Amino acid sequence: MNAVPACALADLAEGTALRVVLDGRPVALVRFGDEVHAIDDTCSHAEVSLAEGEVDTEECALECWKHGSLFDLRTGEALTLPAIKPVAVHAAAIDGDNVFVTLADDGRSNR
Ligand code: FES
Repeated sequence: MNAVPACALADLAEGTALRVVLDGRPVALVRFGDEVHAIDDTCSHAEVSLAEGEVDTEECALECWKHGSLFDLRTGEALTLPAIKPVAVHAAAIDGDNVFVTLADDGRSNR
């Protein structure tokens, strides 16, 4: 799978999440300085956009706004209940002024 352009780096505010749709797949992007994380945007507990939740900078996680589950941005693991299944993680890279994402092969989160 090739890297696809996701957004301009300037569109990604530090410590907030941005929802983008790449090849029809909703992805949440989170920037910490020179690092960008990309995980599937749909919560594994219900059809909710994770990008609308809060970024937990200490845990490097994204919190689902609906019921509060934390998802690790590095592994996609659900760190807290009620979600128990992970979401897919994608490789993200900064190239110049842009962010590129290589989508994970499975095509969807592990639900
Ligand atoms: S919908 Fe995300 S934790 Fe329930």
